[in-house]
Amino acid sequence: NQNDRDAAAEQLSNWYKQNKGKIGYSTDNAAIQLVYKDASLTAGKYGPIVLRDYQLIQQLQDFDRERIPERVVHAKGAAAFGYFECTKELSNLTVSKVFEKVGKRTPIAARFSQVAGNLGSADSVRDPRGFALKFYTEEGNWDLVGNNTPIFFMRDPILFPMFIHSQKKNPVTNLRDWDMFWDFFSKRPESVHQFMFLFADRGIPDGHRHQHGFGSHTFSMIGPNQKLTWVKFIYKTDQGIKNLDAKQAELLAGQDPDYAVRDLYNAIEDGKSTGKYPSWTFYIQTMTPDQAKQVKFNPFDITKVWPHAQFPLQQVGKFVLNKNPSNFFAEVEQLAFSPSNFTPGFGPSPDRLLQGRIFSYPDTHLHRLGTNYQQLPVNRPLPKVSNFQRDGESVLYNQNGAPNYHPNSFGGPEVNPEAESWVNPPESVDSKVDYYDLRDDDNYTQPRVFWNKVLDEPAKQRLVDNVAGALSKANPDIQKAALKVFKNVDGTLGQRIGQKLSSVHVNL
Ligand code: NDP
Ligand code: HEM
Repeated sequence: NQNDRDAAAEQLSNWYKQNKGKIGYSTDNAAIQLVYKDASLTAGKYGPIVLRDYQLIQQLQDFDRERIPERVVHAKGAAAFGYFECTKELSNLTVSKVFEKVGKRTPIAARFSQVAGNLGSADSVRDPRGFALKFYTEEGNWDLVGNNTPIFFMRDPILFPMFIHSQKKNPVTNLRDWDMFWDFFSKRPESVHQFMFLFADRGIPDGHRHQHGFGSHTFSMIGPNQKLTWVKFIYKTDQGIKNLDAKQAELLAGQDPDYAVRDLYNAIEDGKSTGKYPSWTFYIQTMTPDQAKQVKFNPFDITKVWPHAQFPLQQVGKFVLNKNPSNFFAEVEQLAFSPSNFTPGFGPSPDRLLQGRIFSYPDTHLHRLGTNYQQLPVNRPLPKVSNFQRDGESVLYNQNGAPNYHPNSFGGPEVNPEAESWVNPPESVDSKVDYYDLRDDDNYTQPRVFWNKVLDEPAKQRLVDNVAGALSKANPDIQKAALKVFKNVDGTLGQRIGQKLSSVHVNL
C-alpha cells in the first residue's frame, strides 16, 4: 500500500528529487570517467577477462573490503545528530564551556544500541540499551558513553569480557546459551540489580526515543580553583517512557527487526514538518567529597544508584536530535565514543569499571577503525589537533610542516599553563597494591528497595514471569543457584519465581 510508505521508505526517491539533473557521469575512484560499466573487458565475447580491466578489479577490491569489524558489543544501533542546550549555568561547579551560560548550544551526536546481539540482530530484544553522547565542544570532544540504566552488571573491569561471553553466542553452537547466561549471574550476585531492571518493564523499550539515558558512572566536575564535585548525569525522555511487552517484542523481532532504527529515522524526518524532534531533559545529581565520605554506600560503585531523596535531580539542560545521518556507514559505523574523552572541567572518579573503560574504547577503535579514526569527519573535534603524533594508516591531517618532536626551537605546540586548573586535584592513595575482590560489597540493599518500593504489584508479576520464562531454559542446577540470588534480594521474590518456574512450559 503506497499510503504506508514512510520517510525511511522514500529515502531514495527523495534523493533523486533533490539530485535530478546534477548527478554527472560514472567515474572510478580517481574521478576518471568510466567507458563501460555493464560488462567486463574480455578477450572475445565468451573469452577470458583481461588483467588490465582495472575498473572491474577496483570494484571487486572495494567490495571485498566493504566490511570492517562490527563493535564487539553494542554492534546493532542507530544514531542521530542535534544539539545540547544549557538551561542552568554551572560555572561554580565546572569550568566547562558547555555550561557557561543559559542558552549555550553545543552540537552533539547520539547513538543508541542493543548490547549482546550482532549487527543484524533484532531491535526488540530484552537487553540493556546503549545511550552514547558525543559533545563536539569548542574545547574538544566530550563523550558520555552511557546506557538506559543508572547501574551495571559488575564493578570490576576484569569481569566485563567474562560477562559478555556469557551473554553472546556459545562458541561451539553459535547460539545464545541460557546456561551461560544464568551461570554468570548466579556466581556474581552484584549483577542482580541490573538483571532485575532488565527483566522488569523497561528491559524492552519501545524504540530508542521512549527511554531515559544515564552516564551511569560517578564522574568528577572541576570548578574554579580546582573545586571537585562528584556528579552523575541523567537524561529523561520528553517522549515519555514506553516499553514493549514480551509478546509484542517477539512479534516485532520477526516482522520488523529494524523497528527501532526505522522509528528514530522517521521521527526525525517527521520533525522537519511538525517541528517536534526527539528530545531529552538533562539532569545532574551532585555530591561533595565530604558527603562521599559519609554516605552509607560506596558512591563510586556502578552497581548502585544515588537515592533521589538524598541527592535530588537538578535540571541543567536539554538535548534535541534533529538530523539523521547522511550516510549510515560513514557516520554511524565509523562513529567512535570513548569514556576517556573528558574536556576541561570533567574527569573520572575512583570507579574501577570506568578506569578499565578508559583504556578499552580507544584500544578497540584502533582495531576497528584504524590509527587515524579521530580524523574521520564524524569523530573530528572542532578545535585543531596540535601534537607530535604523525602518519599511520589513512592519515587525513598530518599537521603539515609543524615540528614533530618535543622539545623544539620552532614554535611547536606547548601545554596551556592554565591546564592544571581544570583537571582533578591531586588524590592521595595510601594503600597496598593487591587484588581486592569486591564481590560482596552490599549486593542486595538497593535491589530490595527496587522490588519492594518501586514496582507495583502488576509490575512485580511481570518481572517474575519474565525471569521465570528465561530461567526455565537453563539447567536445573543453575536454576537453583539463580533462585538463591533472587531469594537473597527478597524471600517473596525468590519464592514467586520458583513457583512460576515449576509451572511454565518452555518450548526450547
Ligand atoms: P525513587 O522512588 O526516587 O525513584 C525510583 C526510580 O525508579 C525512578 O527514577 C523511576 O523512573 C525508576 N523506575 C521505575 N520503574 C522502573 C523500572 N521498571 N526499571 C528501572 N527504573 C525504574 O527512588 P530512589 O532514588 O530512592 O531509588 C530507589 C530504587 O529505585 C533504587 O534502589 C533503584 O533500584 C531504583 N532506581 C533509582 C534511580 C536513582 O538514580 N536513584 C534510577 C532508577 C531506578 P522515573 O524517573 O521514570 O520515574
Ligand atoms: C561499546 C567495552 C562497560 C556502554 C563498547 C565497546 C567496547 C566496550 C570494547 C565497543 C566500542 C566500539 O567498537 O566503538 C567495555 C568495557 C566495559 C564496558 C571493557 C567495562 C569494563 C560499559 C558500561 C556502559 C557501556 C558500564 C554504560 C554505562 C557502552 C556503549 C557502547 C559500548 C553505549 C556503544 C558505543 C557506541 O554507540 O558506539 N564497550 N564496556 N559499556 N559500551 Fe562498553
